[in-house]
Amino acid sequence: MPDAVPAAERASLLAQLAREASGCTKCDLSQSRTQVVFGVGNPDAELMFVGEAPGFHEDRQGEPFVGAAGQLLTRLLESIGLTRAQVYIGNVLKCRPPGNRDPLPVEIEACRPYLVEQIRLVDPRIVVTLGNFATKLILDTTAGISKLRGRRFTYEGRLLVPTFHPAAALRGGGGGRFGIDPVTGLEEDFRLVGQILRELREAPAAQGPAEESPVEEPAQLGLF
Ligand code: URA
Repeated sequence: MPDAVPAAERASLLAQLAREASGCTKCDLSQSRTQVVFGVGNPDAELMFVGEAPGFHEDRQGEPFVGAAGQLLTRLLESIGLTRAQVYIGNVLKCRPPGNRDPLPVEIEACRPYLVEQIRLVDPRIVVTLGNFATKLILDTTAGISKLRGRRFTYEGRLLVPTFHPAAALRGGGGGRFGIDPVTGLEEDFRLVGQILRELREAPAAQGPAEESPVEEPAQLGLF
């Protein structure tokens, strides 16, 4: 686990990182973006979400998950008694890929240090990765989201729960492509996250979850 950041310094260090990122030219997306979409929410959040990349509305408004996928994310948060203001929301890429195409490996690598530092500064107890790009990057795996979703992993001493991307759920997909209806999968996975949060709140900080939980390391998946 990286060194803990003093709580009093988190907000200002995050703001400083956001200022640095706002002028970033590390990849070609700097030429097509309207603005950098750094992240939003509570700098002291227990729960942090990592999506893929800003879309049209996010690029215009400068905030992650403000379009249709964001509305679904907000509804899912409410289903476990949370508001957007209580959590922290970021993305793998801080700039919109033209036409909302998939992030390129070179863009992901250029942007990765911002995300790693964002997670270190917010210091959440649980990271929820939304979709394949965030999950594969953070868990350093090639396994797909259908295999990994709804399970507990560890990342840098934190719990990590992968789930579907809300936009994939909105596109439908049904049970065929993912093995489960993605909206149902998201709802299930959010219930798990709510349960883990309750466990963490009931357990002394140093001891982690109250009950022994089936935390998996990527290596346990037989992926490496
Ligand atoms: N999809 C994402 O992955 N991130 C956003 O901010 C919006 C849509």
